[in-house]
Amino acid sequence: MVIEIKNYNKIVFFTGAGMSAESGVPTYRGSGGIWHKYNWEEYACQEAFDRNPKKVLDFHELRRKSILECQPHNGHKFISELQKLHENVTIVTQNIDGMHQRTGTENVIELHGSLWRLRCDDCGIVIEDFGESFTKKKCNCGNYLRPDIVWFGDMLNPLVIQKASEAIQRCDLFISIGTSGVVWPAAGFPQEAKSNGAYCIEINTEGTELSYLYDEVIIGQAGGLSKYLSFRI
Ligand code: OAD
Repeated sequence: MVIEIKNYNKIVFFTGAGMSAESGVPTYRGSGGIWHKYNWEEYACQEAFDRNPKKVLDFHELRRKSILECQPHNGHKFISELQKLHENVTIVTQNIDGMHQRTGTENVIELHGSLWRLRCDDCGIVIEDFGESFTKKKCNCGNYLRPDIVWFGDMLNPLVIQKASEAIQRCDLFISIGTSGVVWPAAGFPQEAKSNGAYCIEINTEGTELSYLYDEVIIGQAGGLSKYLSFRI
């Protein structure tokens, strides 16, 4: 079945690691997931950073390097093309890889931050940095800069959550792509969309714990988005 996007006024794409999988960016769970290879307690929490900032920064540099070797796929391109033709398309992503933006997609709400930003929690400064290696690892105040991403045990930025929540409450079409739907608070968004009357579609290579919530579950790949959605406007 093809969903006609022109029938909807406000569209939210809710994306997770499966959105970038066909680009070559590993997912977190499932086979090949990075949390099987790396222990997050050593690389992805504040305690690990406090213990050994250099080791944590090196790990994130490795991730930047591998992501820069990947390219956005047709699914990413489809969303950016759609955004040119439809005036209200928001992307709420759990991904930190910046892949949506690399095809020119705008209005991307990054729930878990970005691998392409660093911040100093003492000074409050945030630096954008897009290279393979971090240009600067220490702040002018002498502290190590940390990747501006949400690690295990971190709170999400309440302003970012609010922005995502507002878009989700207003949307009439909610399309989830490539997320296992197990990490909160993001895992609550499909229910929020549904409760507010949106038509909800899940696109994933397999069923998830949240599949029961959706009006339509499409077992398929993110890269094949144009097979499931049509934007003849
Ligand atoms: P997961 O790794 O938990 O789930 C990825 C999902 O994508 C799975 O349900 C797969 O079945 C699906 N998938 C894989 N390849 C796909 C493809 N080509 N097309 C469509 N679906 C595909 O990733 P997330 O749900 O994004 O948080 O994980 C959520 C959060 O957990 C991440 O943002 C990260 C992680 O810990 C932080 O780092 C804070």
